[in-house]
Amino acid sequence: MPIQNITLDRSAPGTLKDKLKDALLNQIRSGALRSGERLPPTRILADQLGLNRGTVSSAYDDLVAEGVLNAHVGRGTYVEGLPVDGNLRQGPFRWSDHFTDLELVPRERELLAQATRAAGPDTVSFAGLVPDETLYPVRALGKALSEVLDEYGAPLLAYGPPGGHDAFLDFLRGYLAEERGVVQGEQELLVVNGSQQAVDLLARAFLRAGDTVLVEEPSYFGALEIFRGYGTRLVGIPVDEHGLTVNGLEAVLAREHPKLMYVMPTFQNPTGSTLPASRREELVRLSSRYQIPLIEDDFDGELYYDEVPPRPLKSLPGSEGVIYIGTPSKMLFPGLRIGWVAAAEPVIRRLSRIKQVTDLSGSPLLQAALARFANDGELKKHMPVVRKAYGRRMRRLLASLEEHMPQGVTWTHPKGGLSILVSLPAGLDSSELLPEAIAKGVMYTPGRLFFTRDGANHMRLSIGRTNEQSVEIGARRLGEVLREALAKSKKVGRRERGAVLPPV
Ligand SMILES: Cc1ncc(COP(=O)(O)O)c(C=O)c1O
Repeated sequence: MPIQNITLDRSAPGTLKDKLKDALLNQIRSGALRSGERLPPTRILADQLGLNRGTVSSAYDDLVAEGVLNAHVGRGTYVEGLPVDGNLRQGPFRWSDHFTDLELVPRERELLAQATRAAGPDTVSFAGLVPDETLYPVRALGKALSEVLDEYGAPLLAYGPPGGHDAFLDFLRGYLAEERGVVQGEQELLVVNGSQQAVDLLARAFLRAGDTVLVEEPSYFGALEIFRGYGTRLVGIPVDEHGLTVNGLEAVLAREHPKLMYVMPTFQNPTGSTLPASRREELVRLSSRYQIPLIEDDFDGELYYDEVPPRPLKSLPGSEGVIYIGTPSKMLFPGLRIGWVAAAEPVIRRLSRIKQVTDLSGSPLLQAALARFANDGELKKHMPVVRKAYGRRMRRLLASLEEHMPQGVTWTHPKGGLSILVSLPAGLDSSELLPEAIAKGVMYTPGRLFFTRDGANHMRLSIGRTNEQSVEIGARRLGEVLREALAKSKKVGRRERGAVLPPV
């Protein structure tokens, strides 16, 4: 007899065995399975749930060991009952029973972790939006670190002020005004531990479970994970080659009443697309008209190849509702874990309090060192170097894709940043192709991570872990993977069509 109403949530984290054990325990707790009742044979339950028979046997064995089930050789497996009060349980501590239902994107993250472990030294990795380590100005930072330690001494190793170290705030105010056109008062800046923390603090400040957040479709999965983690509903607005599409956005705002919008106007992750000035103005107008806080994530706006992109939303008139976040992570290096928020004073005050509760303070030492590094002219020296290197590399990647991609595959053409989005013909699934790609020595980030729904036939390629030679090799390998996958999908398609029309 199959068990009624038993399902396993395959998208949730955890092994299938643990999920089955949980499901069986829930059936016993709810009374659907009673003490003394016989469980279906492992083969039958495995067929019913689409599981491997070994998984079912192993779940039964665990529950027998925990005293929940009883196995009689030759007669089958029976429910014994929940131990004592229904909560006490023998056996190993089962952490999965204790976690909240915080939603974390499970499968693709896991896939990527597996892929990274499986990747050989010759694998060309287009995965991970990170800057090139060989370009890090390590010595200059070392010098700045030792200089500030000599100058300021022990206070740099104490807890810092919650808003950020004074020397860094001074530098930041000048840098934002000069380089980004974002002019802020003393109380309108906050230094955080990476812009990722800024998104999390903003989510804590503004969102409750059930709220709606408007995001680009596709968007940065690190932000999507945060918003999902707070139990919010994501509404995706399509991105085209010029960034977020603003036509029809007003109607969506009026209908959905989002609590927050999150956008990357310049060299968007993952597409690399950039909003032109007219769309920027429209976005700011809408945020102001509907009074919806608009998070502007300017994570790589400085990484243009040739042409300087339009200034940030936060530099435009009427941008009171824009909450600007920035980071040195892509232009320099991410390991300092420094980021910043520029916003209206009440927002900064609120975030600063939440940040204090979260982690007390950032690192005064690292902030002071980064300020010294920049004030010594090292940032100004570094930027042309990375702009030129990434520009050449990206041009090489785009040319290699032209050469090696099969027909039907398209990709974006960014003018800055580190990533492009590749779109595959419908029916190809970049998550499923990843093991094959690894076997051929190339790796990418599967598209599903970036979309609020589906996204399977996309992949992000990022150039930070490559060089001008390896992008060509990677594109060729990727071309082979996709060509083979397309040939296979055509064969399967033909066979399936044959099966629908049996010969008479
Ligand atoms: C769009 C975007 N925002 C924010 C971050 C987080 O950067 P960090 O926390 O290092 O400043 C990333 C990292 O990849 C990103 O891609």
